[in-house]
Amino acid sequence: MKLRVGLIGCGWFSHFYAKTLSRIGERVHLVWVADMDPEKAAALSAKTNAQPLTDFREGLEEVDAVFILLPHHLHYSVTLECLNAGKHVLLEKPIAVSLQQADEMIQASEKNRRTFMIAYPHRYRASMQLFKQIIESGRYGRLFMLDAMMDESLKGYTTGWISKRETLGGGVFFSSSPHMLDVMFWLGGDVQALSMAGTHAGCEMEGEDTAVSVMRFKNGVIGVTRHLWASPKSRIWYTMNAVCEKAHITLTTTPLGDLVSEGADCEWKTRIVAVGDTEEVLHESGEGLELQGEIEHFHECIETGRTPETDGPTARNLIARIFEAYDEASAKGANVL
Ligand SMILES: NC(=O)c1ccc[n+]([C@@H]2O[C@H](COP(=O)([O-])OP(=O)(O)OC[C@H]3O[C@@H](n4cnc5c(N)ncnc54)[C@H](O)[C@@H]3O)[C@@H](O)[C@H]2O)c1
Repeated sequence: MKLRVGLIGCGWFSHFYAKTLSRIGERVHLVWVADMDPEKAAALSAKTNAQPLTDFREGLEEVDAVFILLPHHLHYSVTLECLNAGKHVLLEKPIAVSLQQADEMIQASEKNRRTFMIAYPHRYRASMQLFKQIIESGRYGRLFMLDAMMDESLKGYTTGWISKRETLGGGVFFSSSPHMLDVMFWLGGDVQALSMAGTHAGCEMEGEDTAVSVMRFKNGVIGVTRHLWASPKSRIWYTMNAVCEKAHITLTTTPLGDLVSEGADCEWKTRIVAVGDTEEVLHESGEGLELQGEIEHFHECIETGRTPETDGPTARNLIARIFEAYDEASAKGANVL
């Protein structure tokens, strides 16, 4: 089935969707792109040949599904409108800025019997799927620790809606650390406890721009995340390190240019290396912030009726854990006010 799609929100990240869709156009047809800013809609339209709109409502009848790439405080209302119009929804992370909103969105997807998936792309990347297979093969012994880091220099990016708690939903830990947490929960299973600490390190924003977290899973695996938006020098953008009895297995994804200014045109390098008694390179590719696996999964779920891996309840669980960690951190003075 060729899926007819409309894209809502033609900002920075939409160009990554455009790049992926140009490769899978025989399965997913982008009919229109909508943004309240006509210049943004026109710029994405020029890249995709999709019709530019300033109001997504005008195009809803022409599509089966929508991709929603809006500021976080708008996820709730626009998703509800699209689900209630009978559209399948692939929504950029996070699901919403409150649990009550998330619950209503999940209920609307159930009531309307539409596929509702939240876009956490990293678990759908081919390299990350291989990373999981390597760990689960047992070849390097039992996994006992996960250690992830995102090292980003985003001082010029944290403006407008990203700088405000009310519109972002929190700080870096809420907005972007789930790119690591989603993968870690997928690898580690049920979480027993998650705590965080945050600080300001130079981005002009209300929430924390730098955050660390520690967790323990019910199976005894422990994990840490470190996330910088104010990195003095971003070296490796995304690192996921799984420590097993016989080796460190490390996946690294590194932009070869400047990610903020080059966006979807940036070239990448991804590697998986196992270091134990010897050092083995298990994967090397040009894969970066890749969305093909994610969009294909959404398409498959619509076709087969399968529940998406990153469905509403999975994404709700992530923000529920984050809000608990925020509450604990603010009670103990472990995060910015
Ligand atoms: N998966 C990832 O790695 C990743 C990376 C970056 C951003 N994102 C997510 O993508 C989403 C968008 O982020 P971005 O960086 O592209 O933001 P952005 O600010 O660059 O783009 C948002 C766009 O929405 C438009 N907009 C605002 N209100 C609107 C409305 N009512 N109707 C139509 N358009 C409206 C704005 O004009 C803007 O063009 C967010 O959910 C963000 O978390 C994901």
